[in-house]
Amino acid sequence: MSAGESSPVGRACAGRLRQVLRQRSFWILAAMMLGLAAIHYLTPQIRLLPFLTDPLGRHAVERIAFLLPVAAATFAFGRGGGISALTLSLLIMMPRALFVSPYPIDASSETVAVAIVGYLVVGMIETQEREKRLRQEAVQRLRAANAVTAMLTKSLDRREMLDGVLERTLDVVGAAAGCIYLVEAGHGAPVLTLAVGHGALPDVLQEGGAVGLGDGPIGRAAEVGEVVAVSAGDSQQVEVLEGWVGMNSLLAVPLKSRDEVLGVLVLADPERRFESQDVELLMAIGGEIGVALENARLYESMRFYVGQVTRAQEDERKRIARELHDETTQDLIALSRRLEALNDEGEGLSNAVRKRLAGLQELVEEALRGVRRFSQNLRPSALDDLGLLAALEGMAAVQREESGVATELRVEGQKRRLPPEVELTLFRIAQEALSNVRRHAQSARIAITVRFGDGDVELIVEDDGKGFSVPARLSDMATLGKLGLVGMLERARLLGGSLAVESSPGQGTRVVVRVAVQQS
Ligand SMILES: Nc1ncnc2c1ncn2[C@@H]1O[C@H](COP(=O)(O)OP(=O)(O)OP(=O)(O)O)[C@@H](O)[C@H]1O
Ligand SMILES: [Mg+2]
Repeated sequence: MSAGESSPVGRACAGRLRQVLRQRSFWILAAMMLGLAAIHYLTPQIRLLPFLTDPLGRHAVERIAFLLPVAAATFAFGRGGGISALTLSLLIMMPRALFVSPYPIDASSETVAVAIVGYLVVGMIETQEREKRLRQEAVQRLRAANAVTAMLTKSLDRREMLDGVLERTLDVVGAAAGCIYLVEAGHGAPVLTLAVGHGALPDVLQEGGAVGLGDGPIGRAAEVGEVVAVSAGDSQQVEVLEGWVGMNSLLAVPLKSRDEVLGVLVLADPERRFESQDVELLMAIGGEIGVALENARLYESMRFYVGQVTRAQEDERKRIARELHDETTQDLIALSRRLEALNDEGEGLSNAVRKRLAGLQELVEEALRGVRRFSQNLRPSALDDLGLLAALEGMAAVQREESGVATELRVEGQKRRLPPEVELTLFRIAQEALSNVRRHAQSARIAITVRFGDGDVELIVEDDGKGFSVPARLSDMATLGKLGLVGMLERARLLGGSLAVESSPGQGTRVVVRVAVQQS
């Protein structure tokens, strides 16, 4: 290794030179230069264009021809290459103009003119190339931002979404490590807590350390809502990078939605410094992540709200069902017994009165059956006492009796009791599915299947009725005031499960609910 190569600058220059020497265009340019120099010194006047008269005839064409390798070198190696080729051309032309040409003043002026035009040519080509490069970079950045934002819509689960986005961002920007902090506004002052991380993160982060607003570059980015950059060369910031072992620079980008900072994206790299284009790109990505976080927050609160309302509705139904059972049903039973006793014991009652008493008792029995049916629908006691299968069996029996449609309950897999909320959800979905069959399907057979899997349970309600065209999104039905299928879907989702409705006109309908359950 030579002395010049031992310094980093020397090494970089030698590397660049080796790279240039390996390119074919360099050797083509060298041959062009050599050829032009030979023509310039060895031939008499060239008469490529015989009609040209002096002064163009006096080697002017050859001098202008030197602009060709200058332009080609600018295209191939940029401004440096163009200026080098121009300098070399002038060095070749000058001796002839000064010492060989019979008209040294004219020849020197021509050479200077070529130098000026050459310089302009290099400038123009360079500007054009830079614009092309900037355009390409802008397109690349747009593609990169699109690739990242595509991840934002892949999942409504916040952690899953952030994980995908962070991985893609590190890829796109070319950073070795990174993490995303989220602002948690608990009861006290808001703090930043680590949500996801990739690459070699500092130990403090891996232990889940929270950062106060305004603390260090990450806290500052969250507080002021601006990008904060730290690099190893900045002596005041060195301690910040200490935790990030081996990193050369760090960038903290706020994740904002409508001026509110919801988190901070942190990127770090052991070698590269982040450029202004990176900052621009990351700010755009940060804005998109901010909006996605806001959406996820709204979605989570909506889910929470739906969960609360459903739970409150179930509690209310349970309370009413119990009250009907404990109070109203008991009162009606007592009333019926008294009427019966009155009829049995009341001597001297006329036949007409006895008949009316029996009629009254019949009415009370009818009301009792109605109240029992209503309370069973509200919340069948079998569901809590005997479980889902018993409640479904009861429901199927009522369906057979009331509508005369053959309704069958099938059980597959190892029967077992499920968590109460799962049993209640599956029961409610089956209830709505059967109500739909009764109201819309005109079917002859209904099959209810419960399949107990290892880690999940499936409920399938099938009919062979008239079917219907299922919309692409079930939630669209809610706007038409049809809430049954949407309600089934929401109930399944509240348990992290899924619901599929398969149907088409004339082909019957199949509703499949799947919920994951731990094997106890
Ligand atoms: N088993 C089925 N067979 C045929 N059509 C059905 C069946 N289930 C649902 N549908 C169709 O899908 C539509 C939406 O059902 P959904 O339960 O959401 O609303 P709905 O039953 O009309 O009203 P509600 O809000 O009272 O339940 C129904 O109006 C009906 O046209
Ligand atoms: Mg319905």
